[in-house]
Order: sequence, then structure tokens, then C-alpha cells
Amino acid sequence: MSKKHYQGPETRGRTDKMSKEEIHQRFENENSANYIERSMNWLPEEEYVMQLVIDFLRHAFGESSGRILDLGAGTGRLARHILGHFDKLKITLMDFSANMIKAVPEVLQNYNGRYRTICADFFNACLGREQYNAVVSSFAIHHGRNEETYLNLYKNIHETLMPGGIFLCLDVIDGDNTLFAEFGEVGWTSFLEKQDFQPDDIETIMSNYHTEDSPVSLNKHFELLKAAGFNQVDILWKKYNFGVYVGVK
Ligand SMILES: C[S@@+](CC[C@H](N)C(=O)[O-])C[C@H]1O[C@@H](n2cnc3c(N)ncnc32)[C@H](O)[C@@H]1O
Repeated sequence: MSKKHYQGPETRGRTDKMSKEEIHQRFENENSANYIERSMNWLPEEEYVMQLVIDFLRHAFGESSGRILDLGAGTGRLARHILGHFDKLKITLMDFSANMIKAVPEVLQNYNGRYRTICADFFNACLGREQYNAVVSSFAIHHGRNEETYLNLYKNIHETLMPGGIFLCLDVIDGDNTLFAEFGEVGWTSFLEKQDFQPDDIETIMSNYHTEDSPVSLNKHFELLKAAGFNQVDILWKKYNFGVYVGVK
């Protein structure tokens, strides 16, 4: 079997966290034209998880029309997935990288009139009041560097959702303590080995996870979501240090 090669920044040897500006630059320097073609072969149960997102949105909204905001939308991977399953939904893609956003028209060429892009930092942007039926995000909000940043974001998301609206997030999730965190990472590492990633690639993936991402635990997300006004929260899927969690306004 051929050895997989991870495409991402090289952070091995670094012990500090990347700054927001470095993260911004990292995405400004991405090859955004082919970003969407890259497999998420580092994500356990990828097919199941992506279908789960669709199933939950359908369970919540049926086939009704509505507006969705995708935070840290990148080049439109999640947006394209959702638009392909729902005829009446419209999506706003927000990302602070103009480079990532410039690839969106190509990625969403079959969905003209059903999407718009906003180039903004979602941690600072004014999202507006009761604008969306759902806010979704995949592998983006883990760039928050402290609880206050997450809490402010969750308050803004709560405010921009219509009553009954849903926040759904697919992302890396930390353990509640070192034991759980390490268990998650050991599980992920063994998954990557089974996926045939090279040891060097696995080292880089884990280093990037520690350097670029600042995930918090599921309990912390629930606590912050509740503090932001989400009374109903749940986990739809959890595997190793990954999860899909939701909050309902
Ligand atoms: C790992 S990519 C994921 C992209 C897309 N959601 C996907 O699943 O393919 C993370 C994206 O979040 C964006 N991002 C990170 N921090 C952000 C911030 N503070 N505000 C807006 N976008 C941000 C990056 O520019 C990048 O496009």
C-alpha cells in the first residue's frame, strides 16, 4: 500500500502556540485551488461524520428553506456538502483568509445565487441579530486561544441564531484531563498508522495539533455554550479527540 503524505505546515520542534497572525498567514499561503480536493483521510469515520451532519440538519429543518452561516468556511468544503443535499438552503461562508475565499466560486459553481462570502475574523465580526437558522463550523473555531474567546464567540452565535436555531460544530476536542487527552491522541495516532501515514507525517500532524489548535474539552464547550444562552446542548458523535457537538437556541 502506498504511504500517505500529509499536506500541512511543518511545526515539528515548536513548543509555543502559533499566533493568530501566523494562522492567518498559513491560510493565506495555502494552495487554496486544490484544498477541496485533499482528502480528510486524517479524520476517523469521515464518511459517517459528514453524513451525520446532513442527517441532523434534515432532522431539525426537514426540506424547509433557511439560512446557514459557516464559520471558518475555508474554500467551501462543508458548504458544498450541505448545499448538495438541500435545495432550499442558502449559506454564508465566513473566513478571514481572502486566499481561501477566492477558491469558493469554483467550488460552489453549481450553487450560484445560494451562497455569499464574507471575509472577516469570526472572533471579532458582528454576526447580526437573528439572521440564521443554523451556524455550522468544521475545524476552525479550535483556533480560539482562551475560554473568553470561545465564550464571546458563542454569545455572538447565540445572538445571530433565530429562536430554535442550531449551532453545529465538527472539530477537535480536548480531554477533560491529561489522562483523557492522551487517550484520545493515542487513539488518533493508531488510526493514522492504520491509514498508512508515515511516522514523519504523524509526528507533523500531532505537532500541528499542539501548535496550531487550542481545543477545549466537551464539558468546557457545554459550560461555555450554556453560559452563552444555549440551554440545550448535546454531542452527536465523539471519536478520540474529535467530535460533533450541538447547541439549540
Ligand atoms: C482547517 S481550515 C477548515 C476549512 C473548512 N471549514 C473545511 O472544513 O475544509 C480552517 C479555516 O478557518 C479559517 N479561520 C481560522 N481562524 C479564523 C478566524 N479567526 N476567523 C475567520 N476564519 C478563520 C482559516 O482561514 C481556514 O480557512
